[in-house]
Amino acid sequence: MTDLQNLDEGNNESGDLSAQAVIKGLRSDFWKKIICYESVDSTNESALALSLNSPESRIVIISDSQAKGRGRLGRAWVSPPGRNIYMSAVLIPEIKPKNATFLTIAPALASASALRSKTGLTVKIKWPNDLMVRGRKIGGLLTELRSGNGKIKFAIMGMGINVNSGGEDFKGELGQIATSVKEETGRSYARSAIIAEILNELEQWYWKLINQGRLPLLEEWRNLSSTIGKEVRINLTREVLSGLAEDIDSEGMLVLKSASGEKRRISAGDLMELR
Ligand code: BTN
Repeated sequence: MTDLQNLDEGNNESGDLSAQAVIKGLRSDFWKKIICYESVDSTNESALALSLNSPESRIVIISDSQAKGRGRLGRAWVSPPGRNIYMSAVLIPEIKPKNATFLTIAPALASASALRSKTGLTVKIKWPNDLMVRGRKIGGLLTELRSGNGKIKFAIMGMGINVNSGGEDFKGELGQIATSVKEETGRSYARSAIIAEILNELEQWYWKLINQGRLPLLEEWRNLSSTIGKEVRINLTREVLSGLAEDIDSEGMLVLKSASGEKRRISAGDLMELR
């Protein structure tokens, strides 16, 4: 691991979170640079600024807090300091842009399996890529891509995971839909060790995607899906659909069967599992 750069910028040594501690937990020299900040607007935004300037693969940006954390569908991702994981990994994978869905699934699978091995929790994936424990959201993924001429210029894989957030962070409605590792296990965890395991796992899924294509990822996604077999409601931009979530197809689309038996393939939307 000779050329791995460890940058704890802004002297971030927030207890359980530092680039050095993350590096200690890595099993290979795949990741070239780990940058750890005390606070940024959004790790995805920082990664984007870096990549637009000079795209470089295998870079990780972590922050103790985010002032303008971004969620899916234009929502905010609440990112208080000292508790949770906010990180973005930059990769330049040589895959076709039509397989880009799997660049969101790879970090979801990596996060689910790292959480399972480090904390013992059973993490499921609500379509498309919400990380769920006992029906509540414990983490989310936001992958942002730039592509051109049939190639991916770079992919920014943003991961937000609630680790040590507690009751005061989940006031009101959030208490019904969100959870954290601490809420589920009753104890606090060192974030750096979980981050390192996510990066170890992400490396593995990255190689699978490059060498074997989307099928291994699709298979594990289906295995971990909390959605397949459930009655669901999906908010799309112009309509609301409901029906049985029958499957996830080979392109990552949700196969929805309506009460009349009609099947539709949905590429994106806000999904609620009913029963
Ligand atoms: C979701 O809405 O489920 C996706 C949430 C993604 C949040 C993470 S936190 C790290 C990275 N930086 C951001 O601004 N967002 C992602």
